[in-house]
Amino acid sequence: MFNEEKRLSKALRWGMIGGGRGSQIGYIHRAAAERDHFFQLVAGSFDINPQKCVDFGTNIGIDPERCYPDYRTMFAEEAKRKDGIQVVSIATPNKFHYQMCKAALQSGLHVICEKPLCFTVSEANELKILSENRGRVIGITYGYTGYQMVHQARKMIESGDLGDIRIINMQFAHGWHSTEIEANDPGTKWRVSPEIAGPSYVLGDIGTHAYYLAEVMVPNLKVKELVCSRQSFITSRAPLEDNAHVIFHFEGGAVGTLWASCVNAGAIHEQKIRVVGSKASLEWWDEHPNQLAYEVQGQPKQILDRGHSYLYNADPAVGVNRIGAGHAEGLFESWANLYHRFGLAMDAKNKGDQALLDNFWYPDIHAGIEGVRLIEKCIESADNGCKWVSYD
Ligand SMILES: NC(=O)c1ccc[n+]([C@@H]2O[C@H](COP(=O)([O-])OP(=O)(O)OC[C@H]3O[C@@H](n4cnc5c(N)ncnc54)[C@H](O)[C@@H]3O)[C@@H](O)[C@H]2O)c1
Repeated sequence: MFNEEKRLSKALRWGMIGGGRGSQIGYIHRAAAERDHFFQLVAGSFDINPQKCVDFGTNIGIDPERCYPDYRTMFAEEAKRKDGIQVVSIATPNKFHYQMCKAALQSGLHVICEKPLCFTVSEANELKILSENRGRVIGITYGYTGYQMVHQARKMIESGDLGDIRIINMQFAHGWHSTEIEANDPGTKWRVSPEIAGPSYVLGDIGTHAYYLAEVMVPNLKVKELVCSRQSFITSRAPLEDNAHVIFHFEGGAVGTLWASCVNAGAIHEQKIRVVGSKASLEWWDEHPNQLAYEVQGQPKQILDRGHSYLYNADPAVGVNRIGAGHAEGLFESWANLYHRFGLAMDAKNKGDQALLDNFWYPDIHAGIEGVRLIEKCIESADNGCKWVSYD
């Protein structure tokens, strides 16, 4: 079992962009990052409004001099300090991600960025090259992939417990935006505005989460081609979709689907993934993240539960089991596990420990690129009469 003893001799000095008061995702970044002494928050450009940034930053214990009016000032001022930031997390609306990531890498910082990483695959590739040239890590906060039972699924699939993989059904289909709530909700308003959200709404906002779950569970699977249909049931959201269905053909013959929706009326989250093999199937649901359904053909269904000794051993580099069986773990633990991985990757990069990086996964720049590629290909398909598009 994991405990919080120090893994690094010194926590990485960490800054944040966005994630200020009232933001949806800022608090979970901070609660996860500081859990295991990998990161210490010392600076921020937390809010688009400079005064609110200082007010909020000081309220969470940051030196007011290190609460900056914008990210460029933060990078410039922090670079002058001996104790300046080494890492930055970007938790702003989507349209800023690319420019902020680029500026951070150019300032020599490691980056943790929200999804979707940027608007185009070409921008994502540019960030990859920049990160390689600068020897920096980019992590993407696909925050559902830190759960122990997601890792268990990966290990079971890798060990052949399911047989040959035939079908992967993914979905993230909630009902919270079944009506035009953006009229009174700024956090939803930007999500349906193409100039801020980018070329898609639900595919990028939530579809990428379910897709990355599949990438973690079945890492060798490669998409060959896909077809997508997308709609705006709330017509004012057009051209951005509030519902989309995707069919995948994978290399080697497996097939799959993805349903991304915010108009699945009555549903809370409905993020689920079902992986079907020639011998058995696995199903995981983020509303019950401590359980994994394992169904072997001809046998009673089994519900595997986190923390038990019958599970595959957790990756020794990372603690995914924080408390013994019988206790619930949740989204904060999943995110803490991811931030833990980001910290290990950044430390390894700083030390030039390529062996660790080669034998260890985290949602890295490739995950960021693949999320953006998914969006790009789905739109190409949907907006051209639902045609099949190849996935080069
Ligand atoms: N990984 C996840 O599970 C998850 C969940 C929710 C949101 N997100 C992503 O996180 C990002 C933020 O989403 P949110 O729901 O928290 O948004 P939000 O609208 O609730 O909050 C955005 C925050 O960013 C600040 N901000 C905006 N522009 C800024 C700028 N130029 N400089 C500094 N601060 C700025 C705002 O003042 C606010 O504090 C989005 O990219 C979204 O896709 C990810």
